Amino acid sequence: MRDVAIVGAGMTRFGELWESSLRDLFVEAAVEALTSAGADHLDDLYVGNMSGGQFVGQEHLAPLMADHLGMAGIPATRVESACASGGAALRLGYMSVASGMSDVAMVAGVEKMTDGADVTNVLATAADQENEVYHGITFPGLYAMIARAHMAKYGTTDEDLAWVSVKSHHHGSMNAKAQFHREVTVEEVMSSTMVADPLTLLECSPVSDGAAAVILVPLDQAKKYTDRPVRIRGVGQATSAMALADRRDPAALDAVAKAAERAYKATGLAPKDIDVAEVHDCFAIAEIACIEAVGFACEGEGKDAARSGMTALGGKIPVNTSGGLKSKGHPVGASGVAQAIEIFEQLRGEAGERQVEGAHTGLTQNMGGSGASSLVHIFERV
Ligand code: COA
Repeated sequence: MRDVAIVGAGMTRFGELWESSLRDLFVEAAVEALTSAGADHLDDLYVGNMSGGQFVGQEHLAPLMADHLGMAGIPATRVESACASGGAALRLGYMSVASGMSDVAMVAGVEKMTDGADVTNVLATAADQENEVYHGITFPGLYAMIARAHMAKYGTTDEDLAWVSVKSHHHGSMNAKAQFHREVTVEEVMSSTMVADPLTLLECSPVSDGAAAVILVPLDQAKKYTDRPVRIRGVGQATSAMALADRRDPAALDAVAKAAERAYKATGLAPKDIDVAEVHDCFAIAEIACIEAVGFACEGEGKDAARSGMTALGGKIPVNTSGGLKSKGHPVGASGVAQAIEIFEQLRGEAGERQVEGAHTGLTQNMGGSGASSLVHIFERV
């Protein structure tokens, strides 16, 4: 297997982007990625997308996107793992380059959610239809149950949840591509509209449009494209029971923990070696459960991390410096790739006001649905 590096990246703004279609979003991010790498061809293309068919009536995305990029003819594959589609696409792009099958691969993620689809029902297709959705559950509802289980087991409070959003919105206020740029207070978060008890509006990721793309090459060819490549040190992927009722512990995300364990094993690294991370904070409770699962906090102690400043810029392990899914936005199929772009920029020292000083090693954690699929990638500055 060859070492693999990211040498270029491109991303649209995230938000309600009514002036751009699904393909426009992809092309904007892809062209920016190609330009930033100075690459003029692709040997392989992976497109992460959760539900183009249900959001905008468009399936068969891989050839469509290759064509609209002016590259019809290249191998192209659409990858789906619900909200982890982008992360799953990144793993396949990594394998394509690591195996020697391709020398220049693009991994992109794209989603167009605001064109009038019944978003709540489309998202719910990523839950267990027979055991959860038929009974009326929604995604905010599933994460509300995870939050209630965490509260019952560890004493997590409404205020602990609110602190996660305060931190995310603070980070997002410094990200020009984020959907939301305004800071929020604990009081505002707690008094915003109740969506699924105990989760309020400001503790939910929004409905978003957007796309993100990165260019992967073998590390030993990276200098042809950039003097600051970022190596993908390793990846872990895992699954768990889909329905919350079938899980060992509804307050824990076992697929995330297993994916992290595999990524640490593949790289020989440990949580203490990570300088900056993006985790899948689709709801405030998700960030708390994810930082426990990847080992940044002990079980039951993730609730204190945002309030204490541990996961804020300047803290021991800054998490979601981009603003995270909460503030940057969550165009579901694009999120896993956008996470990798934040780490790429952090490790190249290009994150501006959000820069984590001296960041050398970064981690991304992306998950699908209520956490039944997860990917963890570990990156390092070369
Ligand atoms: N965070 C902050 N502000 C938000 C927001 C969010 N998550 N969602 C909407 N808003 C804002 C809008 O910008 C709008 O502000 P404005 O009036 O100043 O323009 C206002 O709140 C109302 O927006 P609207 O689109 O009517 O909200 P909604 O009630 O239709 O949707 C949610 C709110 C929380 C239900 C929706 O964002 C949602 O379903 N989020 C979860 C998405 C999800 O499950 N993703 C998959 C995760 S696995």
